[in-house]
Amino acid sequence: MTTSAPAELPWWQRGIVYQIYPRSFQDSNGDGVGDLRGISARLDYLRSLNVDALWLSPIFTSPMADFGYDVANYEDVDALFGSLADFDDLVRAAHAQGLKIMLDLVPNHSSDQHPWFQESRASRDNSKRDWYVWRDPAPDGGPPNNWRSFFGGRAWTLDETTGQYYLHQFLPQQPELNWANPEVRAALLDAMRFWLRRGVDGFRVDVIWLLGKHAEFLDEPLNPEWQEGHLEHGMLQHVYTQDLPETHGYIREMRAVLDEFSAPGQERMMVGEIYLPLERLVTYYGSEAGAECHLPFNFLLLTMNEVTARGIRELVTRYDAACREFGGWPNWVLGNHDQHRFKSKFGFERYRVMQTLLLTLRGTPTVYYGDEIGMENVEIPFERMQDPAGIRQQDNPFASRDPERTPMQWDASPNAGFSEAEPWLPLGVNYRDVNVAAQEADPSSDLHFFRAVTKLRRDLPELHAGDFVDVETNAEDVFAYVRASGSQRVLVALNFGGQETTLDFSSHASSEKPEVTVLLSSVPRAASTPLSAVTLAPYQALLLRLS
Ligand code: NOJ
Repeated sequence: MTTSAPAELPWWQRGIVYQIYPRSFQDSNGDGVGDLRGISARLDYLRSLNVDALWLSPIFTSPMADFGYDVANYEDVDALFGSLADFDDLVRAAHAQGLKIMLDLVPNHSSDQHPWFQESRASRDNSKRDWYVWRDPAPDGGPPNNWRSFFGGRAWTLDETTGQYYLHQFLPQQPELNWANPEVRAALLDAMRFWLRRGVDGFRVDVIWLLGKHAEFLDEPLNPEWQEGHLEHGMLQHVYTQDLPETHGYIREMRAVLDEFSAPGQERMMVGEIYLPLERLVTYYGSEAGAECHLPFNFLLLTMNEVTARGIRELVTRYDAACREFGGWPNWVLGNHDQHRFKSKFGFERYRVMQTLLLTLRGTPTVYYGDEIGMENVEIPFERMQDPAGIRQQDNPFASRDPERTPMQWDASPNAGFSEAEPWLPLGVNYRDVNVAAQEADPSSDLHFFRAVTKLRRDLPELHAGDFVDVETNAEDVFAYVRASGSQRVLVALNFGGQETTLDFSSHASSEKPEVTVLLSSVPRAASTPLSAVTLAPYQALLLRLS
């Protein structure tokens, strides 16, 4: 049974966001690197996934020191990815297919090759000097304070010409823009308008929680929980570089620009990249709901170290309650270009149960390309490593983000259907078996399973718009909940453990009928089940129609 989507929810609440890492999705010109025309050529596939919006990791002009997260021109497309005309074509074609386009805005830092920085570093009295964060050396000539880069080493680099240090919390090639300067803010807001005029539906905003810096530039305190072997950035408590009050004001200015371009049915939105504890995260909805980020990215699942039904239940219920309190719409993420593939991280056997969780919780899911076919981390030999974070922190085997950025596995041909040439990163060793073409042909594949869940989610208002009600079970490894909209109710039962278990859900029955319909199961099973004895196989995900 299907019901059409309620009209009142905007697309970014109702829909599913799909993240594309453009370098790795589809190459159209045989240089081994994915591009915009490649994405356009795959729109039918994307449409078939029942996703609603495509978020493209950065496509702007860039020397690619951090693969596009170092922008040298905020208002153009890098030639590697194509041209502005290719981008316009993509937007037109995507919109024609009912797909929204979201860009990755990188406002915290530019490339050191950006003309703004070139001017800024030219002299101490240049009119753009204050567009970046410059400080005098410490009395001993060293960096102004102890701040660290996320990619290892100090967050300051000395500019010999002018004798001052500039701040960069990532690579030295990514100098931080000074958001306290209104001219900088105006320039970035104009860049947003440039893309909004071209029809962009929203932005994922890079490291939005780092925009404000404390005005006194004091040393950050040591983190007592840090241990040898952890990434160096974690040595400090980032009280002067993260989550500062002024950042909320900056976000409000961005939000106002999005609101300028929004109309009912054509909402423009932003999702902010924020790695913070839940209590702090939800403040980025804004003190009045609707004032700041539409969605502050929820990385609670993504950053979990261990999967247990209890742990997930605790985290989901806490997050859901916090969102309600703030009047914010929830969202969920299992993978992105900075974190290892969830299939590898949480265990192959848990892949479908985790995928079902992501796609049936209350809130907008973001899916990382390739996760729909179960792509795994790919081991990259050091001599082929591309990620500067990995190259700079060689002593840490987890620092490189290459394993999750490998080319999309389209088919079993020599370059996996990704390119005519050797791809920029090696292919997954399993690509001849794990690929889109093979899974299209196999009705029991992960791809078909993904589509089955996303279709249900799209068709059933209780799944894309309904309430979330936690269900108590006495099974250690099972997390169960009801999604409800009006009189329609679906029970989701997820077994995260390796034991078969039988549960009595009859207190949730809405009629005397002993059997309920199985809407979806991650393993083959009968079309109905008695509610009083629902058997879950190891690692099974099950959706039952309650009413
Ligand atoms: C967060 C992005 O997701 C990551 O890939 C990038 O390296 C840093 N921000 C710097 O922009």
